[in-house]
Amino acid sequence: MFKYHHIVEKNLSLMTVLVLITVSIGGLVEITPLFTIESTIERVKGVRPYTPLELAGRNIYIREGCYTCHSQQVRPFRDEVERYGHYSLAAESMYDHPFQWGSKRTGPDLARVGGKYSNEWHVAHMIDPRAVVPESIMPPYAFLLDRLLDPNEKAAHLEAKQVVGVPYTEEMVAEAAADMRAQADPNGDHAGLLERYPKAVVGNLDGDPERLTEMDALVAYLQILGQMVDFTEVEPEQLVQ
Ligand code: HEC
Repeated sequence: MFKYHHIVEKNLSLMTVLVLITVSIGGLVEITPLFTIESTIERVKGVRPYTPLELAGRNIYIREGCYTCHSQQVRPFRDEVERYGHYSLAAESMYDHPFQWGSKRTGPDLARVGGKYSNEWHVAHMIDPRAVVPESIMPPYAFLLDRLLDPNEKAAHLEAKQVVGVPYTEEMVAEAAADMRAQADPNGDHAGLLERYPKAVVGNLDGDPERLTEMDALVAYLQILGQMVDFTEVEPEQLVQ
């Protein structure tokens, strides 16, 4: 092999082609296995697809560009873990398409914000952030209270997520509109919803039980962030199924 090496060294085009072939093989060997998501991400108990209402809230979060000021990824450093809670696991965002890790923290990280405040606090904060945090520079989103949601279009959204691998069942798709209405209705029948989506925050979300608004959806989404996995009882190694 060394006998012909000088040919390669003297011929730049040939060397470029050979380098490209070598690098491609190495790249394929490293990257291809990552496409089989099942073996790439360790499964963790508790992680489930979003409820139809949470999913709608997530869409609003993306539409409004909340990710331009908020990250959703607690890094495994002591200062972050002490401030926000357990560092983020890959499995926590395995059903996020697209993920919302973000790279900018004008405001705090939101990966663990679920359950930190009441629904009322979130609504007051969204209507006017400075009403609850006087020094806040976050813009107000009061208009979300006036924008109504159409539960009937949700099934199609769940089906779209199925295509990219989110394990929504046929039952979840069939019940999408009803689940969406029930989650924000204090008098709704929550049994089926909670069986399908454990830990979903149900009831009066935006302060107005009569109307299903974008505020309902955003609050439902914010309240589930970081809540699916129970970090208080077990060590991460034990969480793996
Ligand atoms: C211009 C930057 C900016 C944008 C855009 C923004 N925020 Fe904020 N956000 C902040 C800042 C700064 C704070 C900290 C002060 C406060 O609590 O208001 C904050 C705080 C928060 C908190 C409280 C977090 C905590 O742990 O106390 C939540 C929840 C929140 N934002 C949600 C949102 C949502 C949802 C959106 C999109 C609809 C959004 N933010 C858009 C800057 C922003």
